[in-house]
Formats: sequence, structure tokens, C-alpha cells
Amino acid sequence: MTTPKIEWSSDFETGIDLIDDQHKRLFDYFTDIQHCIERGDGSQVEPLCRGLIDYVLSHLVFEESLMEQAGYPMFEAHRRVHDAFRRRVDDYWAKLSGGADPLKVARDMRTDVGLWLINHIKHEDKHYVAQVKKNLDRGFASRLLGKLFG
Ligand SMILES: [Fe+2]
Repeated sequence: MTTPKIEWSSDFETGIDLIDDQHKRLFDYFTDIQHCIERGDGSQVEPLCRGLIDYVLSHLVFEESLMEQAGYPMFEAHRRVHDAFRRRVDDYWAKLSGGADPLKVARDMRTDVGLWLINHIKHEDKHYVAQVKKNLDRGFASRLLGKLFG
């Protein structure tokens, strides 16, 4: 089986720097997780996978807040897509807590979470860009950054 490449590509650019920076950070997590998989080193996988989950959950809330603030008409539908994704990452969190082989969790997350993200960024996220860009309130966004990411 060929290994999917979960890495940043300029195809993913939304043109909203705050969002693009967060998407890039998500791919950085995957790069680190990939290195652990290649080395067969499970010791760092758990904190990396938890870090990724934590970060992606904050990122989804960030996106939702910008969509809502911008009056994006498809906001509720987009949030439901995020809700389904949140349930998937919750399962991985539970697996890590339940003593599953961390390298197996890492490989599964790479294909499942990684490919979902690529697909979501390339398609659904592109739909909110025009509305969010037009209505972006930088003060609101920066307060939100502080609240969600410390
Ligand atoms: Fe999204």
C-alpha cells in the first residue's frame, strides 16, 4: 500500500493568512508524526497525536467563529461537518487513552484524519473564503486567537 503524503501544498491556500497559518501548523504535526512512524518510535506519538487533536479542535472553533461573525450562510452545514469530524478525533483520543499501539493509532490518524483534512481544506473550506475575507474583523480574530490558542 502506498503511503499517502500528508503535507502542506499551495493548493490548500485560502488567502486568509490566519487560516492558512493554522492549516500549515496542522501539517507540521503530521510531518512530526510521520517521522515517528518512519523511525518506528512510538514514544513521542502520543503527545504529538494529542497535540494535533487539541490544535485541530481549537482550529475548528476558530473557523466556525469567523464564519458566524461573517454571516456565512452555510455556517450551520459546515459546523455539522465539523461535528462529525470531532466525533472521529474523539475516538482516536480514546484509543490513545485505552492503551492502543501508538504507532498504529499514528498510522490510522495519518490516513483517516490527514486525508479528511486535505479533502476538507480543498473543498468545503474554500466555500466560506469570499464571505469571511470580506467581513474579517481583525480585532475579533486576534481576541479569538488569544482565547483559543493562548
Ligand atoms: Fe472547515
